[in-house]
Amino acid sequence: MTSLRDIRRDFLNYFHAAGHEIVSSSPLVPKDDPTLLFTNAGMVQFKNVFTGQEKRNPPRAVTTQKCVRAGGKHNDLDNVGYTARHHTFFEMLGNFSFGDYFKEEAISYAWNLITKEFALPAEKLLVTVFSEDDEAAALWKKIAGLPDERIIRIATSDNFWMMGDTGPCGPCSEIFYDHGPDIAGGPPGSPDEDGDRFIEIWNLVFMQFEQKEGGTRISLPKPSIDTGMGLERIAAVLQGVHNNYEVDLFKALIASSEDVLSSKAAGEALASHRVIADHLRSTSFLMADGVTPSNEGRGYVLRRIMRRAMRHAHLLGATEPVMHLLVPELVNQMGDAFPELGRAQATIESTLQAEEERFQRTLGRGLALLDEATTGMREGDALAGETAFKLYDTYGFPLDLTQDALRARGMSVDEDGFNAAMEKQRASARKAGFSSGDAAPDAVWFGVRETAGETEFLRYAASEEAATLKAIVASGDTQDTLEEGQSGELVFDRSPFYGESGGQIGDTGTITFENGAKFVVHDVQKRAGDVFAHAGILESGTIKPGDTGHLSVDRTRRDRTRANHSATHLMHRALRDVLGPHVSQKGSYVGPDRLRFDFSHNGAVTPDEIARIEADVNAVVRQNLTVETREMSPEDAIKAGALALFGEKYGDSVRVLTMGCDLSSPDKPYSVELCGGTHVARTGDIALFKIVGESSVSAGVRRIEALTGEAARQYLEQQAGLAKASADALKVPAQDVPARIQSLLDERKQLERQLADAKKQLAMGGGSGANAPAGPEKVGDVNFTGRVVEGVGGKDLRGLVDDAKRQMGSGIAVFIGVNDGKAALAVGVTDDLAGRFNAVELVKAGAPVVGGKGGGGRPDFAQAGGPDGAHAQAAIDAMKAILAS
Ligand code: ALA
Repeated sequence: MTSLRDIRRDFLNYFHAAGHEIVSSSPLVPKDDPTLLFTNAGMVQFKNVFTGQEKRNPPRAVTTQKCVRAGGKHNDLDNVGYTARHHTFFEMLGNFSFGDYFKEEAISYAWNLITKEFALPAEKLLVTVFSEDDEAAALWKKIAGLPDERIIRIATSDNFWMMGDTGPCGPCSEIFYDHGPDIAGGPPGSPDEDGDRFIEIWNLVFMQFEQKEGGTRISLPKPSIDTGMGLERIAAVLQGVHNNYEVDLFKALIASSEDVLSSKAAGEALASHRVIADHLRSTSFLMADGVTPSNEGRGYVLRRIMRRAMRHAHLLGATEPVMHLLVPELVNQMGDAFPELGRAQATIESTLQAEEERFQRTLGRGLALLDEATTGMREGDALAGETAFKLYDTYGFPLDLTQDALRARGMSVDEDGFNAAMEKQRASARKAGFSSGDAAPDAVWFGVRETAGETEFLRYAASEEAATLKAIVASGDTQDTLEEGQSGELVFDRSPFYGESGGQIGDTGTITFENGAKFVVHDVQKRAGDVFAHAGILESGTIKPGDTGHLSVDRTRRDRTRANHSATHLMHRALRDVLGPHVSQKGSYVGPDRLRFDFSHNGAVTPDEIARIEADVNAVVRQNLTVETREMSPEDAIKAGALALFGEKYGDSVRVLTMGCDLSSPDKPYSVELCGGTHVARTGDIALFKIVGESSVSAGVRRIEALTGEAARQYLEQQAGLAKASADALKVPAQDVPARIQSLLDERKQLERQLADAKKQLAMGGGSGANAPAGPEKVGDVNFTGRVVEGVGGKDLRGLVDDAKRQMGSGIAVFIGVNDGKAALAVGVTDDLAGRFNAVELVKAGAPVVGGKGGGGRPDFAQAGGPDGAHAQAAIDAMKAILAS
């Protein structure tokens, strides 16, 4: 059997022998081509050669190109796993002529390779040509000797190949293999051409035109050749199998997933194993080319593919991450042809594992919700769009994953309902005060990036900069115009506005247009990577893409923000000096008003430590040294001792910011950090640094809030004002305020004690005149003292009861203290009366009168309470009545 590896090698060698240069595959993320999501054909890397912008010598090439078709013009994701030939990732073998040979040689090379080298029987082959291409039809007859009925003319776009909406294109001719009458399906162009009997194996494109934006088509400088043969397809034909997933490479990958998942690739499990094997390839190759899972653009397509694979692993019983365990076999199969796979293996494995762990946390719950929502649904029914949206929003199920899950059961999703639910959420986000553009889906921003490109940040801009408006996003989509009073997000080719990142918030300011229109910017966010979205409202006029705007940042606000950002770096260093090197940044906020810094540290930062941190930072501020920025490679930066800041993405070169000199060894810098934010020119611009808050964020993470410059001065002024107001009120000098407050507190405590004693005295009959309380009375033969005492708390009542008992010698004492309208009852019975009266029973008779329930204690002393102090006297009477009975 010819292995897939052999076929790849034979193809390259065959064309190499015919004067073609073997060129390695270009990355899946097209370089400098914003029109394509992923490389989807072999010709992509040669686009500029076809159009004449670039020359190649020799003018012939051969490649095996990595392709991903998942999103964009060519999207096969939904079909993968259910058909014999769809893949999200595949290899395209191709030979290219850049204005060198044309149709005749192309047809000869192809025919010779498949019939001689690959030894396919000529009678099993047929071809299509574009209906108007008589020349190609005649050449097939001449070179291959094919009869007319096996040279089929096709009028549709099937035989006119285009890279995308723009780019090189031309009529094409496809070679088909007939898998035989046992398999259903008709030849191309026939009504049942979609069957599986006749399979396209090679596409020869006669490149003649370039499609321009707006629909015009111009001729290429020279007619050229671009061909594409799916390696997996030709391998299936040459290995005598009908399904691409049965070729040697896929057999090996599927054997590995059978092993890891302990599940046989048969019956219902078969499609899932195929999905896993296919998606393993696309996700691994995408990551090897630098794509990371995210919620936008390419990263989101990657995440969707991953999640689809992970759901299928779950279907096969996986409860732990498994995808990363399959990577070694993939590297084993393909790492020799694509060394980047091996280089990125560790990254691929750890990313897959982390993503799968993360998704598994919600997958089970999401699937349970889906099960619940579909009970009672039948084949042909559609799931409510609201439910699909909830799965998307809460459980991270992309719409196509939900559709995939339902597909096996013959059900679909109400997509209109899904979109409506998405729109509803956007509308409420808008209502909540977010600008309309905030709700634009990632796809919109990715599209903006494709057309407008990344925004150039004018870091050292003058106070006003001119730039061209490239796109307007409002109400969740791009717009042709923005009218007075409307809010939206504007994208320019360049901008002096800082887009929120690395903890530093976005700038505000104004943009005036040459036609007089005025836009007020209240925030700037980076979208789809480095597209700066200036969010705000158009106060006057009308604007459209192409207009020139004059962008001016609110400088005062930016200056305050800069000072806070630089102070954050200084404080980071001071924290490490004062608390220890375990301090590492966990998050930060840098705005014009203040700075907030979260870091790892156990236990509170003490006032003494705070004072030392402030002193160090302010000492470096006073050094007033120039802040230095240098661009260097990340490796050099780490060597220079730079601390990497949290949440930043670093590219090939990084900005390294150096501030101040070390407080004990002045030849060393004080702070060295990687940072893309904006900073002061000299440390003295910070002016003053003051910590205003220290708190806990979570276990082992503390938060410090601080102020700089004018805000710090105002804070100190306010503190001084408070001290002065206190001193004035106390009529002492400010430095005596603490001692004075202490003595006032002591005095107050003493007075409270005296007051309580006085009240007790009064209650015991210490008063005189008309208000003097009555002494004990006789009820039957029993002495009785019953009194309502205002302002006496529960704990003093016991003392009163005991005193009264002592005074009477023999008798019953009832005191009800009334505080804030509430009653506290205390009843005492002297020992000699213990056989006749029970304090608990007595108190229980009194409590209901004041709205209380129950009461408790011992036979000689009991207590109760009630909310209704106004009836305290009636409660005493009720208890007295028991003695009389
Ligand atoms: N570029 C051609 C294709 O992708 C060969 O089919």
